Amino acid sequence: MISAIGKSKQRSLGPSPEKLSSDKRFKILETHMKRLQFRQDALIEVLHKAQELFGYLDDELLYYVAKSLKLPPGRVYGVATFYHFFTLRPKGVHICVVCMGTACYVKGADKILGALEESLGIKAGETTPDGQVSLLTARCIGACGIAPAVVYDGAVAARQTPVDAIKRVKGWMQHGA
Ligand code: FES
Repeated sequence: MISAIGKSKQRSLGPSPEKLSSDKRFKILETHMKRLQFRQDALIEVLHKAQELFGYLDDELLYYVAKSLKLPPGRVYGVATFYHFFTLRPKGVHICVVCMGTACYVKGADKILGALEESLGIKAGETTPDGQVSLLTARCIGACGIAPAVVYDGAVAARQTPVDAIKRVKGWMQHGA
């Protein structure tokens, strides 16, 4: 875990430069932190925003926040694990995050989520019993122009339908890890 990793390895924990430039969510998070003047005492607020955007907080994201706010990664990890309202990376091999922000919602995100819940036999926030798929929701992920959006293993997919989403996660389940 982040707190147990030595300084020399912390460098590789953050998102790659390619990911930082291609995933708009990091840009939105950065703008949010800028608005808060990168204040260290705004950590909880920043983590809330990060979770809203990504659906959960993984090591990479926590490290990114730590670096941006110039805080020790262990401290950020400690706060993220202490408060029950933060979700760390779920245990599924694959992670599906359905955006439930307004733009996606009005274009049927609830139907996508409902179809996935029914098909997988789990509720949002849960992982299938075989550990293959974790299903999560997020509020606006910054891709309203391509709503409804779903994030499959970190990749944002545009204009999804319930059929698209089910096909995708069923594919994961058939091919195993
Ligand atoms: S509401 Fe889903 S991307 Fe903005």
